[in-house]
Amino acid sequence: MANFDVAVWKNGKVRMLDQRALPHEEIYLELTSAQAVADAIRAMVVRGAPAIGCAAAFGMVVEAFRLAVQGPPPSWPEAMAPGMAALRDSRPTAINLVWAIERLRPLLYGNEPDRVPDRLLCEAESIRQEDIEACHAMGRLGADFLPMSAKRTITFLTHCNAGALATAGYGTALGVIRAARRRFDQVKVYATETRPYWQGARLTAWELLRDGIDTTLITDSMAGHLMMRGMVDAVVVGADRVAANGDAANKIGTYPLSVLAHRHHLPFLVACPLSTIDLATATGAEIPIEERPAEEVTHCLGRRIAAQGVQVFNPAFDVTPAALISALVTERAVVPAPDSAKVAALFDEPVAD
Ligand code: MRU
Repeated sequence: MANFDVAVWKNGKVRMLDQRALPHEEIYLELTSAQAVADAIRAMVVRGAPAIGCAAAFGMVVEAFRLAVQGPPPSWPEAMAPGMAALRDSRPTAINLVWAIERLRPLLYGNEPDRVPDRLLCEAESIRQEDIEACHAMGRLGADFLPMSAKRTITFLTHCNAGALATAGYGTALGVIRAARRRFDQVKVYATETRPYWQGARLTAWELLRDGIDTTLITDSMAGHLMMRGMVDAVVVGADRVAANGDAANKIGTYPLSVLAHRHHLPFLVACPLSTIDLATATGAEIPIEERPAEEVTHCLGRRIAAQGVQVFNPAFDVTPAALISALVTERAVVPAPDSAKVAALFDEPVAD
């Protein structure tokens, strides 16, 4: 399994792999304030919903240690408020960011204020560890759910990067693909390049090849052709936020893949931890969709490719309706044909062994 630090606590700093430099260079940044972590999230140094949740948690930790240098502040919640707001506002769609901040927030209150930084660190480490375990559980459950062909082979299509780089480790969608290697004799992957930010070409291809997984890169527009030719057995993607009714926001281009999968009777799996499910958002229509800079669309590798003066619309995510999702794969259970009742029931189920 590929080994790198997506976002970890090391020597009193937040250490993160700069994903903007991949696949050419492995550069690590060491960050010392919540604002610096928020800037790194916004700039896509670290990306992927669970990974930015971990990064935000360590962002709060580093902020607390920074503030505690001259003794604990008179009010931790007040002292931490600007850093927490910066983290929360760094990207709007992935709910894991808010989820992680809210999980740490109660630790700012209570007795022994001088122990707040250590308490936050302990909880942030738990978030990271739990995410790795959740990814492994999702992988196992998702791989078991997949239909087995007579030839014991499977070819996946995946979009964006929902791998080790997008989580604390192992990955959600790529976790299912990794785990499928234990069940199937042959596993192949078609990775979409994922315009406009190229997470598939730069990150998924790099990550899967490091693991020795048979990976073929395609442009986003080739997916329908492959499905029509019978070259794909299942589509597996991640999610940035799943609404209470099972609608799932993920990287722009996911929704058309779900329509194609439906047309070609292929399983369309959305793998995400429970921390990505937002019961407070009723349907996908209410999920805020990030809009990113026009240059991501007009430029390629720093060179302008679009006609000067053209208008650009650059939504970073789209929403796949629950009706087009064959199954939600979580660490607790696989939920076939998700709906509001099944999503709510997930939170009552015991954790899978
Ligand atoms: O803009 P990004 O690269 O942060 O988008 C990432 C995705 O869309 C992933 O599929 C999603 O966050 C799930 S990551 C396990």
